[in-house]
Amino acid sequence: MESKLPHIGTTIFTVMSKLASDEGAINLSQGFPGFGADPNLLELVGKYTMKGFNQYPPMAGILGLRQILAEKTQLTQGYLPDPEREVTIVSGATEALFAAASAVVRRGDEVFVLEPAYDSYEPAITLNGGKPVYVPLEEKDFSVNWQSVRDAITEKTRAIFVNSPHNPSGYVWTKSDLDELADLIRGREIFVISDEVYEHITFDGKKHLSLGSHKELREKTFVCGSFGKTFHVTGWKIGYCIAPPEMTTEFRKIHQYLTFTTVTPMQYALAEYLEKPERYLSIPDFYQKKRDLFISGLSQTDFQFRPSSGSFFQLVNFGHLSKMADRELAERMTKELKVACIPVSVFYSDKKDNQVLRFCFAKEEAELLEALDRLRDLNRILA
Ligand SMILES: Cc1ncc(COP(=O)(O)O)c(C=O)c1O
Repeated sequence: MESKLPHIGTTIFTVMSKLASDEGAINLSQGFPGFGADPNLLELVGKYTMKGFNQYPPMAGILGLRQILAEKTQLTQGYLPDPEREVTIVSGATEALFAAASAVVRRGDEVFVLEPAYDSYEPAITLNGGKPVYVPLEEKDFSVNWQSVRDAITEKTRAIFVNSPHNPSGYVWTKSDLDELADLIRGREIFVISDEVYEHITFDGKKHLSLGSHKELREKTFVCGSFGKTFHVTGWKIGYCIAPPEMTTEFRKIHQYLTFTTVTPMQYALAEYLEKPERYLSIPDFYQKKRDLFISGLSQTDFQFRPSSGSFFQLVNFGHLSKMADRELAERMTKELKVACIPVSVFYSDKKDNQVLRFCFAKEEAELLEALDRLRDLNRILA
């Protein structure tokens, strides 16, 4: 059978997680928390399942969850989306990203991907007949080179995927980035698909600026979020999309035939759980402690790094230590040091190897300390 995605195989996340498990290594590769969710949230799921909230909910999501999410957006981002016409609950941010692309990308359209990039953007473009156009982020700090984006615009440019806080680098967009993007698409029919799954994980007092918080960008943007990432329940696969009414209408046409709707008791549980804002306002502090612990340990190793500003990932450079390919080092670290990570070349369309590795620090303190201890033996592999 002719493949529609001939270049896609098993993702590196699956490969490294399997290797980590086969080798009995500490798995700092795939991006999922190594700790449980708040028991209050889990109890709410029990409560709503037992109460019989187990049949199909409304296609766009239960109104209570859409309302409280709109209120959260007002509190954290300063604008109030219309829960009826602008908010849709979906099966994970992955669905939101795909449905948004399906809603706007037509055959032959060009869509920008700023790389290194999360792996679900490209298939969402390709399967909808579009052509990904890759624009590299700055190697030094993964900020956007706006001139390069501007230079890549053609008459066929239809959309741009953006991601802040950024996976894998942790770069957090500034107000100036938002203004640059607004400037770039002004007067053009270019839509923005904004992946904001790490919206609540920022450090050192930096604040996540949703593209929805920018009045002009809001008119052209699908804001895609993930309750799974925010509340340490990635396996629930529940997220959302906020977009203006006309865009939401098109988005829902796709959502309706992708999944139709999203798991009912989790929606009720999240609606009640979100009533207390401290439950999401405390997340930056929670993760800051982990990031600080992780980077303080990393500074005892030979890796070079810039502290991550957001997300639960930390990048490290090893080019000054070895000529080894990043993939080889990641595999050897898993087998010989028993610590798994992700080689960052996989986030580039041409698999460009800048000798950078990505660690996920969303793990229990003891596990992070043990991993850091093992990483001190890095020279054993590099020698
Ligand atoms: C940048 C980014 N976007 C989207 C997702 C997927 O989110 P969800 O599990 O809600 O589909 C991930 C998960 O790793 C991610 O890192």
